[in-house]
Amino acid sequence: MKFELNIGKNALDTTELIILSAKQKNKKLDISHWNPSDQKNFTKIKSSNHFKGEKNEYFFFNRTNGVSILVIGLGNSNKLTLEELRKIIAKSMQQIKNSNKQIEIILDHFIPQDQSPTETLRAISESILMSLYSFTEFKKSPSLALKKIIVQSKMIDKKEGNKILRQNKIIVDAINVSRDFSNLPPNILNSEEFAKRIVEDAKKLPNVKVKLLRKKDLKKEKMNLFLSVNAGSAYEPQLVHLEYTPQSDFNKHIALVGKGLTFDSGGYSLKPSTSMAGMKFDMTGAATVYGAFRAAVMLNAKTKISCFLGITDNMVNSNATVPDSVVVARNGKSVEILNTDAEGRLVLADVLDYACDQSPDQIIDAATLTGAVLVSLGHEICGVMGNNQELIKNLLNAAKQSDEYMWQLPIIPEFHEDIKSEIADIKNIGGSRFGGSAKAGAFLENFIKKDIAWAHLDIAGIADSQGHLPYCPAKGASGLIIRTLIRHLTDE
Ligand code: BES
Ligand code: ZN
Ligand code: ZN
Repeated sequence: MKFELNIGKNALDTTELIILSAKQKNKKLDISHWNPSDQKNFTKIKSSNHFKGEKNEYFFFNRTNGVSILVIGLGNSNKLTLEELRKIIAKSMQQIKNSNKQIEIILDHFIPQDQSPTETLRAISESILMSLYSFTEFKKSPSLALKKIIVQSKMIDKKEGNKILRQNKIIVDAINVSRDFSNLPPNILNSEEFAKRIVEDAKKLPNVKVKLLRKKDLKKEKMNLFLSVNAGSAYEPQLVHLEYTPQSDFNKHIALVGKGLTFDSGGYSLKPSTSMAGMKFDMTGAATVYGAFRAAVMLNAKTKISCFLGITDNMVNSNATVPDSVVVARNGKSVEILNTDAEGRLVLADVLDYACDQSPDQIIDAATLTGAVLVSLGHEICGVMGNNQELIKNLLNAAKQSDEYMWQLPIIPEFHEDIKSEIADIKNIGGSRFGGSAKAGAFLENFIKKDIAWAHLDIAGIADSQGHLPYCPAKGASGLIIRTLIRHLTDE
C-alpha cells in the first residue's frame, strides 16, 4: 500500500474515488467547504435530501468524469476528537477497500476544530494503515484491491507531511508484524519457530545485536522457573535478547520484557476447553514489545533499548511440572508452584531477573498474564502496575496521548503477604482469586532489583478481539499498546 501526499493539486487521472467530509451546522447539512460543481451535482440528486451529514452517515455520488465521491458525515465537527476521526475513517475503509484501487482523501475537510493539520494527518494515516490489515496467510481470498491512497492538503508543508507518513508507515508496519506473529496458530508458531522468525527479522534492523539462549543456556543461567514451564514441551524454550544502541550519545537504557507463551494449555492445572481456545494469543506480550522495539529502532530512538522475550509453550506430558512442586528461581528465591496455569509469571520471573543484570534504568514488561484483569478492567483496558510511580505516570500519559486505554492497579503490601508460602519463599498464586492481577504483579516484583524502575502491563484483556475499535480486526490480534510503548521509547 502506497501513501502519497499531494499538496494543493487536483485529482489524478487514475483516482477512482475521492473522500470528502460533510458537516453539520445548527443540525443542518453543511457542504459549504466543497467546490461549487460538487455542490451542484450533489443537490441535483433527489435522495441527497435525506443526507444530514450526521456522524458516520455516508453518501456516494459520481462526478460526470466517472470519479466516485464518498461523503463521510462528521456531525458537529467542532466536537470531534482525533480518536473519533480514526474510527470514522476506519469504518469507511471497510466499505471501500475492496472496490477501489486508488483513492484520494481531502485532508483539510477532516481537521477537527482544536487540532492541527499535522496531528490530523497522523491520526488519519494511522487509522487507514491499521484498518487495512488482515491475516491472510491461510486464506485463498484475493488480496486487497486498494493499492494507493493520496492525501490532498493545502495546509500541510510537504516535507513535514511526508515525514509523518514515513513515521506512521514504520509504526503500523511494526504493529502488523506483531499482529501476524500473534495470529499464527500454535501448531506452526511453536517456541523454536517463533524465536527463529524474530531473530530473522531483528537481524535486518540497524544497530541491533541479536542473541538467542536455548535450553542448555537457560540451564547454565539457572533459569529453573522458566525451565519448569517448558518441562512438558516438545520444543526447546527460547530466550531472545536484543540490544539496540543508538549511534548518538544516550542517557537512558530501557529494557522491554515480553511473555511469549506460544500456547497455554494450563499444564497439569489444565484449562477447561472453553478457556483454552484462544491461548495461541498468550505470546502477545512478546509480540507487542518486539513490535515496539522494532519501530523505535527504525525511528532512530535516542535511548538504548534492550528487549527480552521468554518463549515456550505450557503443555502436559510425564515430564511436565506438577502442582505442589518447589523450584528455585534464577535469583535464588524458592517458589511453590500451586497452579501450573499461573505460568507466565514463572517465565517472566527469571527473564526479569536476567534483564536486571543488564542494569537498565527502566524495565517494562507486557504479558497476557491474568484473566482477572478482564474482571477488573474489562476487555478494553490495559492494566499497569509497578514499583515506580514516575514511570507509571509516564506510561499512563503516553497511553493518553496515543488514545489507548490504560489504568493503574495497586500492588499493596497485603498482596505480597498473600503470596508468601508455607514451605518456600513465595507461591505462584494468592490465597484467593480476588485482586488476581495485582497479586501476579506482587509476584513479579520479587524478581526486580530494588533500584530499577519497573512497570508491568497486563494485556490479557486487550490482546485480541477489539471489535469496538474499527481500526482493529474484530477477531484476532489487536496490536494495541504498541503505539503507547513507541511513544514512551522515542520520547526525548
Ligand atoms: N494466559 C493466562 C491468562 C489469560 C486469561 C490470558 C484469559 C488471556 C485471556 C494465564 O497464564 C493464566 O492462566 N492465568 C491464570 C492465573 C490463575 C491460575 C492464578 C488465570 O488468570 O486464570
Ligand atoms: Zn496460564
Ligand atoms: Zn498464560
